[in-house]
Amino acid sequence: MRILITGGAGFIGQHLARLLSADGHELVALDNLQPQVHLDPDSARAAFPGEVIVGDVADVDAWAGLEGQFDAVVHLAAETGTGQSMYEQDRYHRVNVDGTRLAGAFAAERRIPLVSISSRAVYGDGEPDRPSFETDGHHPVSVYGETKSMAERELEAFTSEVPITTIRPQNVIGPGQALHNPYTGVLAAFLAMLREERPLTVYGDGSQTRDFVHVSDLAALIAWCLEHPAELGSQRVLNCGTGVRTTLLELASYAIEGSPHDDIAIEHLDVHRAGDIDHACASLDRVRTVGAPLPEWTSRDAVVDFIRWSWDKPGAASQTWDDALDEMSEHGLTQTRDTRPRA
Ligand code: UD1
Repeated sequence: MRILITGGAGFIGQHLARLLSADGHELVALDNLQPQVHLDPDSARAAFPGEVIVGDVADVDAWAGLEGQFDAVVHLAAETGTGQSMYEQDRYHRVNVDGTRLAGAFAAERRIPLVSISSRAVYGDGEPDRPSFETDGHHPVSVYGETKSMAERELEAFTSEVPITTIRPQNVIGPGQALHNPYTGVLAAFLAMLREERPLTVYGDGSQTRDFVHVSDLAALIAWCLEHPAELGSQRVLNCGTGVRTTLLELASYAIEGSPHDDIAIEHLDVHRAGDIDHACASLDRVRTVGAPLPEWTSRDAVVDFIRWSWDKPGAASQTWDDALDEMSEHGLTQTRDTRPRA
């Protein structure tokens, strides 16, 4: 197959592309090589096993300029920082909502299947003792989650024309994750702090939970969806996670385990960022029922793999994450945890 991967030069795209290329597929990436993500755009381009077309998914002309026949589209390109989305709303709406609508229109016009990557952020805050099911309603609490929810709805217009699968990943981690982008998640922050042997900053008491899934497990699920297109008529939605929740304190201990240090302290900051949720974990019931691949990595092993692989790679100083938190405070988007509004 000749497959178009939007955001193909990024973290998930590169893993997916290596997997698909090993299976003999021809790949084309549409990617804007955004500087916030790509410190070194030339090497990202060189690493992609196929042609990289530089363009913005929210730009109609970028899609119109794509030449030749395609057999499927994987839509990965998105703005992904939960915190940043709270003050860069227009950018998040434009890329995530408009970009997904254009991906759907492109697939519909060419009558080819689309696999679109959404997020578990559409569910909003999860429960501490119940995973999220694909049938749960959308209750996003961040602008990021809201844009992902709107993007899913945009795709409903095309379900009678082409098979559309939407995947809702939990927190995706692994080798190749951006190490200098302060909007790329807590684990990259912990890596930067560990390398400087400074305490790991945990916002609150650390009892918040997330479901950390290895990027290669997400890539395997996307590849399966390409081989098993959804039925026409309704959008097929699949969660992607391990189905096992990890507290932030456990995450910190796994990260320390993967590092050469064993005496790193935890520093609790009494802060809550607007848009942050307390709990997240995927139900894998539907993935199991449809016969899609289940994750092979535990969260602990995925964290250790990420830390070991990333340890000697270039990345930002931990101060970058302090600055990102300050930026949120300057926008009035942080509170102490006991003064924040409760849902
Ligand atoms: C992440 C992804 C999002 C994805 C979603 C799926 C990022 C930025 N966002 O959101 O794209 O769709 O998962 O679940 O990766 N924290 C600390 N200390 C720090 C930094 C963060 O304690 O130094 C805390 C946060 O307050 C939060 C938790 O760690 O409670 C996770 O935050 P983070 O990794 O930034 O992102 P998610 O909101 O989980």
